[in-house]
Formats: sequence, structure tokens, C-alpha cells
Amino acid sequence: MFATVACSSSEEPGEGSKKVEVFTWWADGGEKAGLDGLVGVFKTDCAGFEFLNGAVAGGAGSNAKQVLASRLQQNDPPDTFQAHAGAELSDYINDDQLEDLSAQYTEWGLTNAFPKGLIDNLTVDGKIYSVPANIHRANVLWSNKTVLAKAGITKDATTLDGFFADLDKLKASGVAAPLALGKDWTQQMLFEALLISKLGPEKFNGLWNGTTSWTGADITDAITTYKRLLTYTNKDRDTFDWTDAEKLLMDGKAAYQLMGDWEAADLDAKGFKDYGWSVFPGNGNTFQWLADSFVLPKGAKNADGTKCWLKTVGSATGQAAFNQKKGSIPARTDVGTDGFPAYQQAAMADWKTATQVPSCPHGSACAQTWQGAVGSAQGKFSSDGDVAALQKALASAAAEFGPKK
Ligand code: BGC
Repeated sequence: MFATVACSSSEEPGEGSKKVEVFTWWADGGEKAGLDGLVGVFKTDCAGFEFLNGAVAGGAGSNAKQVLASRLQQNDPPDTFQAHAGAELSDYINDDQLEDLSAQYTEWGLTNAFPKGLIDNLTVDGKIYSVPANIHRANVLWSNKTVLAKAGITKDATTLDGFFADLDKLKASGVAAPLALGKDWTQQMLFEALLISKLGPEKFNGLWNGTTSWTGADITDAITTYKRLLTYTNKDRDTFDWTDAEKLLMDGKAAYQLMGDWEAADLDAKGFKDYGWSVFPGNGNTFQWLADSFVLPKGAKNADGTKCWLKTVGSATGQAAFNQKKGSIPARTDVGTDGFPAYQQAAMADWKTATQVPSCPHGSACAQTWQGAVGSAQGKFSSDGDVAALQKALASAAAEFGPKK
């Protein structure tokens, strides 16, 4: 059969193309600034290739992941895509969609460049399938300093009780919804931060590795407290992406937002300087981590170009340029703190000493099926507030998608 393939836009990569299509959800603000930093290094180090931006906007990949899934199914992968280290990456590995990069790790000297625990999260059956770009922290509470000052709040709360007391002070000062919140996955994040405070890191880890039950009284108590926390949030939360909630904070309509540290980069990119940060109250020195990594999909049109992209992602120069603008910290252990904003310098110090726990909505703890089930359960709870129903849905999701006993 002689198929005529319409010659599509000159943007489209093809056989023998110099273009490397990089698929992410980093389309605006601090996320775009981070990507631009990396592209700058790619342009120098991979001068024979051309960057093609395949970004699909939407926080945490809410739109991108669906587009990617359908492209992979149609055997039309981008040259490389963003995937979270941990269970989420294993989805693609188990579906045989990724090339093994073990040889490149040896060739580029990456094997000892990253922390061993992270390498373990990228490895399946002794093979390693992606190059990590960063480490993000999920459990950070961002604040608007002026709004806090007006309510007479001068210190960051370190306990849940202290936090509720501050939220009450804010309400009394006229801030109707002091805790800005967005839709499903952002609600998952807030609930997880609260679970860390209630259960402590070890039991929290157990929720994902199967050693902590989702049916216990401690989970009922956490959901009940979470329900109370929702009464301090904006009612239109279910229609909001994280950046919409962030705008409430910037505009002084809210005082706080629980969000990953991409928020630092985004506030910087938007020129908003009046912000503070603290670990979510009651989380102590727990660092809820996640990592973005890049892969070489099977069937990528420009494997050589992708390899050059991956080499840039894994290089010390690439990691410095990217992370300085992205709010995250380098995954490599040999990148110095010079040139990093104050927030990341603090995060780099914390990362060395903190207790690490993973995140479900950002893939380090859960596969995508599990993430989806939890996300819709949280969304439902946001409108019906049914504690027993949420606990039941979370327990069923763990039984269906979690580790099998
Ligand atoms: C990604 C971050 C991104 C955030 C918000 C997370 O899942 O790991 O890189 O900034 O989503 O879009």
C-alpha cells in the first residue's frame, strides 16, 4: 500500500529529524522558566539538535498524562517525556514502553551521581530507565506575609492545633477563606500533609507499602480533621488549578497554600516577593519528596537527540540551570548551593537530614491508577463531606491498586 502522508507543520519531528520533542506539563511561570534554563544548556551541549516544546499545560500533568497515554497507545511517542520517579515510572516500564538506559548511565558517569535511594526508585530488575532532573518537596506551606501580619501572626505554627488557631485569627481579621485550595490532586496533597502530621512518617509510609491499614480509627480521625480544615478553604476549590489558588494568596484573599516547592519558582517568576514558607504544621523534619525524570520511549523518532537531552538533564550544569529556576533542588549530589535562591538553599540543607516520605499524586508512592482513584474520591468528598464514604473509597483504592499482600 502506498500511503500518502500529508506533510504536516514544519514543527513536526520526523525520521532523521534534528528536532527533539520534549513532552512536559511545564508551560508557564516558574515551570517554564526551569525548562528554559535546561533548554539553554541543551542548545550549547547538543548544538546539532533542536528543542521542540511539546508541553501540555495543567498542574501535576492533569491534562498531559492523558494526552501522553493516548499517544503511547497509538505508537506515537514524543522523543522524551517527563515521568515521576517511583511507582508512576514503573507503570511505563511494566508496559514495556521505555528503553533501558543502563549503558548510558555507565557512559555518562551517572551511576554514582545520584543518591542510591533515588536510583532504586528508577530501577526495575536491575535496569535503569530514566534520568532524574530534580527533587521537589511537596509538604510546604506558603504564606502571604502581609496578610499574616495584619492578623497578628508572627510565628509559623508547628502543630495542627497551632495552625487551626492561626486560621481562626485570620478569619477574625476578615479573611473568609484563609487557606487557598484547588481541585482533586491539590486536595490529595493537603490531605497527605495532614496524614503525615497525624500518623508520623513511618505509619504514613506504611499506607503505600501496605503495612498501615486505611480502615483504622486514626484514618477516620484524620479525615474528620481534614473536613474541618476544608471549612477554612475557598468554596470554588474544585474548579481551581494550583495556580488559581496561588493567585488567591498573591492577591491577599488567602493567607496560606499547601503546595509543592514549584510554588517558590512560580512566585519568583511572577515577581511576588511578599511570601514566606514553612513545613506543613506537625510534619516536623519530614521531607515529602518527588522527582521529575526523563525517559527514552520505545519508538522515539530521534533516539540520538533524546540521548543528548538526557545527558544534559543528568549533567551538573543542566541540573544547576534547571533547578535554580524550578524551585526544586538538584538530584545530583555534587551541585553546590551557589546561585540558588534562599528557599532552595534551605531545602538542600533539609534534604540531607530529613526523614523522607513519598507522595501519591506525584507518583513517588502510587501508580497512576491509584492516583486517579484517590483523586476522584477526594473530589467527591470535597462536595459531600462524607467521612465514612471517603475512608471506604481510600481503603478500596489501596486494596485494588496498592501492593498485594
Ligand atoms: C511535577 C512538578 C510540577 C508540578 C505542578 C508535579 O507533579 O513533579 O514538576 O511543577 O507537578 O505542575
